[in-house]
Amino acid sequence: MSDYETIIAEVHDRVGLIRLNRPRAFNALNSQLMRELTDALAAFDADEDIGAIVITGSERVFAAGADIKEMSTATPVDMLTSGYIDLFDRIRQVSKPIVAAVSGFALGGGFELAMTCDMIVASESAQFGQPEINLGIIPGAGGTQRLTRTVGKYLAMEIVLNDRRLTAEEAARFGLVNRVVPVERYLDEAMELAQQLAARAPIALRIAKESVNKALETPLSEGLAYERRVFYLLFATEDQKEGMDAFMHKRKAEWKGK
Ligand code: HXC
Repeated sequence: MSDYETIIAEVHDRVGLIRLNRPRAFNALNSQLMRELTDALAAFDADEDIGAIVITGSERVFAAGADIKEMSTATPVDMLTSGYIDLFDRIRQVSKPIVAAVSGFALGGGFELAMTCDMIVASESAQFGQPEINLGIIPGAGGTQRLTRTVGKYLAMEIVLNDRRLTAEEAARFGLVNRVVPVERYLDEAMELAQQLAARAPIALRIAKESVNKALETPLSEGLAYERRVFYLLFATEDQKEGMDAFMHKRKAEWKGK
């Protein structure tokens, strides 16, 4: 776990914590960092003792975007063959819930990284934006898509076309973050949320995440049919029997993840 150079990966009870750690480059997401981040996420995802994951930066910066210095001389073919943006798909494929704990700047790819996570806890100092237009490009890791699905067309247009930045309070108002807390609390708050998630029935948690994500990708009738199928499927798990037995006997359920 400690072989990483651009991130720090730690385990706290059943939560895997990943800290983005390129302070001198404002946690710019260079390809090494993205590789290490996705490797650490895959390792946590495969670890039965981990139930949820938190990704954070520092108080001052979550991440200031893709590494502009690394990208500046790239050709389209370089961007395609490096597989850099494909790494964001690996984050999306993680089956366990991921909470982003965001303080300070979450810009460009940094904002997109936060939006790739499942929940966002923001500090009061968090600032969200897609400033790619200033560089003569557009967001490339979901910024025009996930953002628009969350905040709607008109605000997304302003953010993407005109570098409108959102404060933490605004982001909360527009449904982009789950909660805003004082700077000294944001990481603890995210960790507590992740510990709660990690204590839940693992298979139901995984299917629940998949089902909510499905809602963003399918027409309603297809999404409802999908939900019904996986709902039925959960009755094949030991945890469903345990959860309902625990309710009826007024005791706490003990999840097996089976
Ligand atoms: C590389 C970066 C960087 C970035 C900051 N730095 N952002 N390096 N890529 N995205 C580096 C600076 O070069 C500088 O190092 C150091 O971090 C501190 O930055 P300053 O600008 O001196 O700090 P400050 O004046 O406080 O301004 C902070 C900032 C600003 C507002 C975050 O740095 C900024 O605007 N950064 C760029 C944000 C951006 O455009 N992001 C989108 C990137 S494109 P040196 O060594 O020079 O002093 C993108 C596309 C995504 O994300 C596509 C798919 C993933």
